[in-house]
Amino acid sequence: MKPVKVGLLGLGTVGTGVVRIVEGHQEDLQSQVGSPISISKILVKDRAKQRGVSVDSAKLTEDPWEIVRDPEIDIVIEVMGGIDSTKEYLLEALERGKHVVTANKDLMALHGQEILAKAAEKGCDVFYEASVAGGIPIIRTLIEGFSSDRITKIMGIVNGTTNYILTKMSQEGAAYADVLKEAQALGYAEADPTSDVEGLDAARKMAILSTLGFRANVALDDVDVKGISSVTQEDIRYARQLGYELKLLGIAERQDDYISVGVQPTMVKKSHPIAAVNGVFNAVYVYGEAVGETMFYGPGAGEMPTATSVVADLVAVAKNSKLGVNGRQATLAYKEKKLKTDEQ
Ligand code: NDP
Ligand code: HSE
Repeated sequence: MKPVKVGLLGLGTVGTGVVRIVEGHQEDLQSQVGSPISISKILVKDRAKQRGVSVDSAKLTEDPWEIVRDPEIDIVIEVMGGIDSTKEYLLEALERGKHVVTANKDLMALHGQEILAKAAEKGCDVFYEASVAGGIPIIRTLIEGFSSDRITKIMGIVNGTTNYILTKMSQEGAAYADVLKEAQALGYAEADPTSDVEGLDAARKMAILSTLGFRANVALDDVDVKGISSVTQEDIRYARQLGYELKLLGIAERQDDYISVGVQPTMVKKSHPIAAVNGVFNAVYVYGEAVGETMFYGPGAGEMPTATSVVADLVAVAKNSKLGVNGRQATLAYKEKKLKTDEQ
């Protein structure tokens, strides 16, 4: 049986998890896809580095074009991060008819429209479930599960690093800088953790979620952002004394045709289920006019939870290939949004 050939861009935290799952669950994946899945080439920066999984060193390359231009590769999984060069690689892969799976919210929040448009032009899939809320399948839930409803609010904890920091500061009195180092060591933080602690990572995720949820083109610049770098132990203590937990919340709302999206440290009443979301866990609350209140909860970062979403996308793309329906899922040809201003 001809295997589905995968090129993996990146073998860090998430890439390592992807290799583990593809190897460890091979039989089960094959039974779903109908063919074996083979990771045939892997891009790294440094081939000599010790890896968390054993891989055949002949598969490792430091040249991204070797993967992107390999006619044998059917699907490119991008878990290297970065924006400009990464966009170039993925557009080239799509141009050559390869399908793409990515965990890259930086890229999708800024250039998602262009990438999805290229995919549609070429009849290719681009799946990006892991780009928001790690192991929670929130993107396919918004696209498919809520297709019948009109969402008016999306609210949540969508950054694991900052929730981990705030939880440890609140429950253990730990120092901000120490917990940030821990989150980095655990593989939760971005390569530059400024984007976590200053709220930019959450803002990127909220731009993606509100675009999908409200079916409107919400750009990163439309999101008001404030992070947690100036939050003190006193802020957390006072909030608790008053019956609240301090959380970095993303809140996106639609009133009539107007949309507002923001990320900021927020006092959440202890009785609200979001107040009990601790550590690296994320939660996304979605309010639909027909369904009412819903909430989705799970690990928001880290090797295996994130890789679970990446490999689920890989299975979806491979199954679409078998059915010959790649490129037919909803793309982001949404209407322009109207932003809510103070006067409205
Ligand atoms: P890491 O920094 O752990 O891994 C990045 C990998 O890509 C490394 O293997 C690195 O090579 C390789 N790489 C990076 N740049 C280059 C380059 N220019 N040329 C060749 N190889 C390169 O990142 P993560 O695994 O944590 O994250 C990957 C992506 O997934 C990012 O977009 C991130 O935002 C996203 N993500 C991460 C989550 C997490 O919990 N970590 C969760 C959800 C999404 P080498 O190993 O040799 O250094
Ligand atoms: N740095 C991100 C976080 C990784 O902490 O949530 C998951 O997107």
